[in-house]
Amino acid sequence: TEKTYVMVKPDGVQRGLVGNIISRFETKGFHLKGLKLFQCPKELAETHYGDLSEKPFFPDLVDYIVSGPVVCMVWEGPGVVKSARKLIGATNPLESEPGTIRGDLAIEVGRNVVHGSDSVENGEKEIGLWFGDEGVIEWEQAMSPWLRE
Ligand code: GTP
Ligand code: MG
Repeated sequence: TEKTYVMVKPDGVQRGLVGNIISRFETKGFHLKGLKLFQCPKELAETHYGDLSEKPFFPDLVDYIVSGPVVCMVWEGPGVVKSARKLIGATNPLESEPGTIRGDLAIEVGRNVVHGSDSVENGEKEIGLWFGDEGVIEWEQAMSPWLRE
């Protein structure tokens, strides 16, 4: 089944939003496969956002991601990559719909509390990058018959 990488950024951790954010994915019905509190080293932040390295905000983005611990997660489910992006909302929180994480909890693009992979391929890449071979656990969700036909 499809997996995605979701991360509560340092502002979300500092603001005490970890439970709120995890709860949205849990209650939606997605299956938690990996979870850790982690201080991201600079090189990893630069690799993770490598596609944006030419952007003027890139140094600030890297500083932001390493400014405190993040919460790294792997969520699994059918269509989870696209669905997680919808739950998260638009990149700029002023344009995110109410009901989304950013729409409800953030006001600035440089403090938008959460990350979600933008494709299945990038999801696999990011899970490898942030979790390596360890930390992703295969387990049965006991409630799965109540979530899936
Ligand atoms: P992620 O889930 O974090 O990857 O966000 P995204 O996919 O919605 O947006 P994108 O990958 O284009 O940008 C990655 C991150 O860079 C954003 O979440 C913002 O934190 C930051 N960012 C993007 N655009 C801007 C910008 O114009 N200014 C600033 N300061 N930060 C930006
Ligand atoms: Mg992105």
